Amino acid sequence: MTNNSNNRQSFRHEVLIIGSGAAGLSLALRLPPSVKVAVIAKGPETASSTYYAQGGISSVLRPDDSFASHVEDTLNAGAGLCNEEAVRFTVEKGPENIQWLADLGVPFTSDLSKEGQKTWHLTREGGHSYRRVIHAADATGKALETTLLNHALHSDNIEIFNHHNAVDLITGGKLGLDHNRCIGAYAYNKQKDCVESFQARSVVLATGGASKVYLYTSNPDGATGDGIAMAWRAGCRVANMEFMQFHPTCLYHPEAKSFLLTEALRGEGGKLLLPDGQRFMDRFDERAELAPRDIVARAIDHEMKRLGAECMYLDISHKPAAFIRSHFPTIYARCKELGMDITKQPVPVVPAAHYTCGGVHTDLNGCTDVENLYAIGETAFTGLHGANRMASNSLLECLVFSQSASKHIQQQLSQKHNWDTVRPWDESRVTDSDEDVVVSHNWDELRRFMWDYVGIVRTDKRLQRAKHRVDLLLSEIEEYYGNYKINNDLLELRNLAVVADLIIRCAMQRKESRGLHYTLDYPETDTTDTPHNSVLSPPNFETQ
Ligand code: FAD
Ligand code: SIN
Repeated sequence: MTNNSNNRQSFRHEVLIIGSGAAGLSLALRLPPSVKVAVIAKGPETASSTYYAQGGISSVLRPDDSFASHVEDTLNAGAGLCNEEAVRFTVEKGPENIQWLADLGVPFTSDLSKEGQKTWHLTREGGHSYRRVIHAADATGKALETTLLNHALHSDNIEIFNHHNAVDLITGGKLGLDHNRCIGAYAYNKQKDCVESFQARSVVLATGGASKVYLYTSNPDGATGDGIAMAWRAGCRVANMEFMQFHPTCLYHPEAKSFLLTEALRGEGGKLLLPDGQRFMDRFDERAELAPRDIVARAIDHEMKRLGAECMYLDISHKPAAFIRSHFPTIYARCKELGMDITKQPVPVVPAAHYTCGGVHTDLNGCTDVENLYAIGETAFTGLHGANRMASNSLLECLVFSQSASKHIQQQLSQKHNWDTVRPWDESRVTDSDEDVVVSHNWDELRRFMWDYVGIVRTDKRLQRAKHRVDLLLSEIEEYYGNYKINNDLLELRNLAVVADLIIRCAMQRKESRGLHYTLDYPETDTTDTPHNSVLSPPNFETQ
């Protein structure tokens, strides 16, 4: 660690990981103890989607299941856009990664086999042909995050910097050097209200998704697509941003901000009901409640609009109360706090933005278009999910790609290295803002028009409207950013606007409905052309 003349700190590590969810922490733990690692995270430990994951992690773990079946289900859900190589790669590495977690001590829920032997309990979720979702009751993410974090905190080579919001990547190009490698990142230290520099030989974006770009989301507050926006500004391609996944069943209650009702409830027999108590999913798909998410979310949205209803209902009360309480203790307790007993009554649900299938374009090692820069986890586009992610494939992707990226990084680190000189953050031309209202107003406006115009059902006209608005916001925010001192809200808004623009541009390019992208102007899937990804290149891409 060094101090520069303005008394702001600058740090040097071999590897800088931005994000402390499943992807970031798994990677940190997979690097050898001789490698000095910095993990920076903009919030406390609980501020990640990982912490809130409920259902579990998909993997082939039963003798009657097979890799071929997991691959086929994933390809089916992905609606023709999965990269089959990425799917096989991920599926085949599943079991060893689950074993790695079990060895670290993640307390997965157990079961007894027919022969009376202790085994793992596997649940079922939409799109999966077999029970293959390993879980820790209905709080898999909390069990995973706390186990990984506990190991990281006890590792001498890993330094964790919470409350540090990465602002931008530092590349050779930005410093006017003769290369464009990524050599670190600037991060806003929220507690000290200053920007620090983190230099590293390898930099990893593990910043999660961007669902906060929508008004209603299952994600925690920090899911503002920062990694995608930073990579875009640094010269990386971004792909398939139109495929934003809406989870069908978030609890609909004024006090239940972002609370998810896991798909495993439907996997264990939960039914979706109209306000009058009738089932409706079998009218939309033969798999009914266990159809892939895009179909279930659209069906709920359709029924809500058709009936002018505020919500639909999810009912598991026909199952034994003891089963419900032991398999879904978190959901049972939260609903009880809000005055609802899921063992006795249906609960109100609505769809909400849940998962970013697109992201920073990478290969199977997590390498991006910028040398020494990696992207893993929800922030990356690996080709695994195609046009729609199958439930519980996301945590699996975090694990598998942290493993492959760690191997690639170790090869990089074995090469000779000269450190470049990084300039400290320059604040000489900005002042304190006297109108923070601009930031709060633009946050609200952006999330609302994204929900209304770029949500579950789109049209050309709605996308045009959204594009006009985002263009205006982008220029307003850039001007504001150039004149005023940064703070957390401004940084997040700046990234949200970039991500919103990328989503809209990808959606405008796609003249068909496929997977999660549904438009009334082109309601059919285009079968005349080879299915294609929506790949966007940043303005500075040619010059790499
Ligand atoms: P995250 O876990 O979101 O972590 C992102 C990290 O990056 C955080 O530490 C954050 O603070 C940090 N960060 C972000 N921006 C910055 C910045 N600018 N500077 C510094 N740090 C930054 N998937 C499944 O497979 N199974 C499930 O059962 C499941 N259930 C889910 C339930 C809920 C409620 C939600 C929201 C998601 C669920 N998902 C599930 C999806 C899955 O949890 C996520 O895709 C996955 O956890 C993403 O992990 P990650 O490490 O990529 O990102
Ligand atoms: C859930 O538990 O329903 C979420 C699973 C997922 O998003 O993969």
